Amino acid sequence: MLVSINRRVPRWALPLQRRQRYKGASGGRGSGKSHFFAEEAVERMVCDPSLRVVCIREVQRSLKFSAKALVEAKIRELGVASLFLVLTTEIRRVGGSGVMIFEGMQDHTSDSIKSLEGFGVAWVEEAQSISQRSLDLLLPTIRAEGSEIWFSWNPDKKTDPVDQLFAKGLDGSVRVHTTYRDNPFLPSTLRDEARRLKEADPEKYEHVWGGAYNLGGKGRVYAKFLDKPFPEGNVDASVCDLGGEIYVGQDFNVNPMASVIAVRAVDECHVLDCLLIETSNTPEVCQEIADRFPHRRVVFCPDPAGNARHTNAKAGQTDFAIIRSFGFEVRAPSAHPPVVDRVNNVNMMLCDGHRRRMRIHPKAAHLIESFGGQVYKTDTNIPDKSGGYDHPNDAAGYLCWQEFNLLHDTRASVSSFAIG
Ligand SMILES: Nc1ncnc2c1ncn2[C@@H]1O[C@H](COP(=O)(O)OP(=O)(O)OP(=O)(O)O)[C@@H](O)[C@H]1O
Ligand SMILES: [Mg+2]
Repeated sequence: MLVSINRRVPRWALPLQRRQRYKGASGGRGSGKSHFFAEEAVERMVCDPSLRVVCIREVQRSLKFSAKALVEAKIRELGVASLFLVLTTEIRRVGGSGVMIFEGMQDHTSDSIKSLEGFGVAWVEEAQSISQRSLDLLLPTIRAEGSEIWFSWNPDKKTDPVDQLFAKGLDGSVRVHTTYRDNPFLPSTLRDEARRLKEADPEKYEHVWGGAYNLGGKGRVYAKFLDKPFPEGNVDASVCDLGGEIYVGQDFNVNPMASVIAVRAVDECHVLDCLLIETSNTPEVCQEIADRFPHRRVVFCPDPAGNARHTNAKAGQTDFAIIRSFGFEVRAPSAHPPVVDRVNNVNMMLCDGHRRRMRIHPKAAHLIESFGGQVYKTDTNIPDKSGGYDHPNDAAGYLCWQEFNLLHDTRASVSSFAIG
């Protein structure tokens, strides 16, 4: 019996119809990932009566939380109900040995997983939750000639095993990313939900509906930073050296020294670069700046502690003295501003509701990553330093506090001047 399946495949999914061993569809909520793979599985089983398909989740508490109901609906919608026998725990292909089953990887051991060896398709739903152990068990098990492993997921963290799997550049793989905006079947309720969140919480929207990684939502210290091209976000490849004073926000650490290099464009701070120099000291940083900007007026805006701090360079010299010895000017307040003020000031520069007065060239990748990555320690207002994001952020904070201070009408006091 020849059955023709009449279905509309969304444009974003077309690459997934090529024969490939690994197929990935990541994206935001409501983009049509589950519907696509469910239809795809039904169509494959219609075309191949002996095809065995396993639908996998990391944890499957009950069949209610599996793709089974969706697949059953697709069988009806596609008009192929006569070809399937729907049982409580599985769906059998009439007229062949084909079957679809639904399993949780946590229920499998290295022995039990062998029962899946004859399966031609494994579809891993909610793959952001799949553990490395499960991947290690599953990938070598799906081994039938021409077999395929499909992944659909809402990205959470860059370090999640499924993201790492595709990031490494898998041989024989195709991966697409999609959002509700690409879904031709999108119900208006979902569109309204997405719009509502976009207004209320643009960051969360990027994660939930845009399928971006979860940066911690309101737990992010630099919550106003948006890793998107200007004017929507703070990243701007058109930022360039305008020829005026060069500002260097400087955080002193032995490992690493963090420097944020910027220029002023009227009342905006345009970041040209961010240096993160490992096992370095103040003279090395100054030399690097001198080499990059010969014959330029350079103003360092360092951590005020550098006025007392002595590097391991020359006995008796403070960091400030070293900076001045290179002919650079030092501007810093006499004492540390409260951390919360410094952070608020940076956030206001990043976006005060109307304007993004801090623009960052993509070359300053360390700063972009750090603004996006630093979170507060759980249930506190203390920025977490364990992620290593604090150094570039602090450097940017000192610079903004000194030269772009939106909290104080006047600039913080100038504690020292360059001696040429
Ligand atoms: N092929 C399709 N046929 C009919 N409706 C569809 C189809 N694809 C998507 N839709 C509609 O779009 C909605 C979202 O699709 P789906 O549930 O597949 O998205 P998803 O990307 O899996 O979302 P989530 O990330 O929330 O799981 C569905 O509830 C359905 O209304
Ligand atoms: Mg889904």
